[in-house]
Amino acid sequence: METFMAFRSKTAAQDALKRAVAKAALEEIRPLLTPETVIGVGTGSTANMFIDELGTLAGTFKGAVASSEASAERLRGHGIDVFDLNSVGSMPVYVDGADEIDPGFAMIKGGGAALTREKIVAACAERFVCIADESKDVAVLGQFPLPVEVIPMARSYVARELVKMGADPIYRQGVITDNGNQILDLYDFPIEHPVEMESRINQLVGVVTNGLFAARGADVLLLGRKDGSVERR
Ligand code: 5RP
Repeated sequence: METFMAFRSKTAAQDALKRAVAKAALEEIRPLLTPETVIGVGTGSTANMFIDELGTLAGTFKGAVASSEASAERLRGHGIDVFDLNSVGSMPVYVDGADEIDPGFAMIKGGGAALTREKIVAACAERFVCIADESKDVAVLGQFPLPVEVIPMARSYVARELVKMGADPIYRQGVITDNGNQILDLYDFPIEHPVEMESRINQLVGVVTNGLFAARGADVLLLGRKDGSVERR
């Protein structure tokens, strides 16, 4: 069994990669920042590091739209104004992490249960910059459990329908999304055709959305390598 110290050092190494891609993302978007610019900002530990980097430029751009309450709070903590999406038009860029990304830049997201707001904010952005350490780089999506956000009263119905599709849905106990909904995670569910699967699951009554970001995937991937480099794809 993995020791606590081994786990700590693995996590610290992964954190260093996340920090490196967060810094690279700041350089990627820096040319877009003007006093009029509002950007989209994601959720999770990698996005948090990006927010910390972005904080160094607070006051030089207009602000951000956040994909979660947690990110909004962190942005404000850095003195960055947070806007309601309804008051903002299109944004030049959305920066966020991923749980997995495939060679076609389709992703699984929602490990932090923010998938619906992430998908909405991403939809309003001209470019999606995905920041990830190399553990997220996969040939086929589905090793990471695919999250599905459901209206609470529909949870069991949706779970039964997902079983018919060959999935093994597990209710993420104790988690309520920022939208007041619940999450089913689909384990052992390899996804060969992400665009089709994203649409199929979303058609189930009671599903708010699922964590496949395939119809609108990433445009740029900044991938943190173990040797400390950041690969841009
Ligand atoms: C949250 C997300 C995150 O982007 C995803 O879970 C990756 O998180 P982390 O950067 O902590 O590995 O989709 O809903």
